[in-house]
Amino acid sequence: MVITCVEDLQRLARRRVPRMFYDYADSGSWTESTYRANSQDLASIGLRQRVMVDMDNRSLESTMLGQKVSMPVALAPTGLTGMQHADGEILAARAAAKFGVPFTLSTMSICSIEDIAENSPDPFWFQLYVMRDHDFIERLIDRAKAAECSALVLTADLQIIGQRHKDVINGLTVPPNPNVRTVLDLATKWRWCYNMLKTRRRTFGNIAGHVKGVDDLTSLSNWTMTQFDPHLSWDDVKWIKDRWGGKLVIKGIMEPEDAESAVDAGADAIIVSNHGGRQLDGAASSIQALPDIVSAVGSRTEVHMDGGIRSGQDVLKAVALGAQGVYIGRAFLYGLGAMGEEGVTECLNIIQKEMDTTLALCGLRDIQQVDSNILRPGSYPTPSR
Ligand SMILES: Cc1cc2nc3c(=O)[nH]c(=O)nc-3n(C[C@H](O)[C@H](O)[C@H](O)COP(=O)(O)O)c2cc1C
Repeated sequence: MVITCVEDLQRLARRRVPRMFYDYADSGSWTESTYRANSQDLASIGLRQRVMVDMDNRSLESTMLGQKVSMPVALAPTGLTGMQHADGEILAARAAAKFGVPFTLSTMSICSIEDIAENSPDPFWFQLYVMRDHDFIERLIDRAKAAECSALVLTADLQIIGQRHKDVINGLTVPPNPNVRTVLDLATKWRWCYNMLKTRRRTFGNIAGHVKGVDDLTSLSNWTMTQFDPHLSWDDVKWIKDRWGGKLVIKGIMEPEDAESAVDAGADAIIVSNHGGRQLDGAASSIQALPDIVSAVGSRTEVHMDGGIRSGQDVLKAVALGAQGVYIGRAFLYGLGAMGEEGVTECLNIIQKEMDTTLALCGLRDIQQVDSNILRPGSYPTPSR
């Protein structure tokens, strides 16, 4: 199959990844309206074609959190990535390191913090979910420190979990409840099964073996699902920040008031994110929310964005509206599910090439020059106040 765009990787991933895990990625909560809006609203923004300008020597280089990046795109934290492809987090981290972009490891990953540190060349970022068991969280932060992670990404929008209907239908519940259909489907995914048999990494690597009394899959699943701490508040950021002592990013900000609180709490960056449409169905798309947040706190902190990014053009549109960088979730997962490490690299290549060509056709040579002048007037969201 010839791969021309991220959607091609998605089609290949759908063929190769067991349905329950493919669906886990390709789904949003309830009616999926926010999930759809994330990419639809990006698609509806138009660009201005410019001509007769020197387009030689272009650069997409930028920084995120003061770190040099070959383009302003990071890999988003995604749970169960090692189920899209065996050893998925290691493969994605390696692809990101070779490309010169940050990789963010989820708390709910299959490969552990230590696995990534041992098997990938560059420092990576670690995403933290706060659990009721604060001792466990403190140890987790210490492990991320010991692994020399260069940023901690605190996710604020998943203390209660939104329902994705496909997961219920497929039995991707806690504990897992596979049905006849999911088992039969697994039998057709021989490549995935073969790779999975070769690895020992098939459980939540950051948790298994680190909590007393939690050793089999059922106790692990139950522990995990009852642990997300619904009490998490801005006051908690202080102890997390003190314990961590490094760069702190707060993820899941959709409203200017929360952006202000995040800055007051000492965030070095915030991520405008609705969790890829997987939490509050009916929330605005991320690109709609971005301008108000940039206008509220953009002079005081770095503003990043994720949600719906499927192309290099999408990245440029977010940068034009004030994002210092973006994260890709599903786009890299589709690459991973389709072709492992090579697929993640292909995804990054596609995005980079699309971004580079678009930059040139909009009449610019350096991503640092990008602002809302590249967008067609009237087609993009503006600050409401
Ligand atoms: C399969 C999947 C698992 C995810 N798991 C996590 C997670 O463990 N932690 C987290 O902070 N965000 C998680 N997210 C949200 C992503 O970090 C990111 O916000 C979202 O994927 C961005 O939207 P996009 O997929 O359209 O790029 C997950 C998203 C997906 C698709």
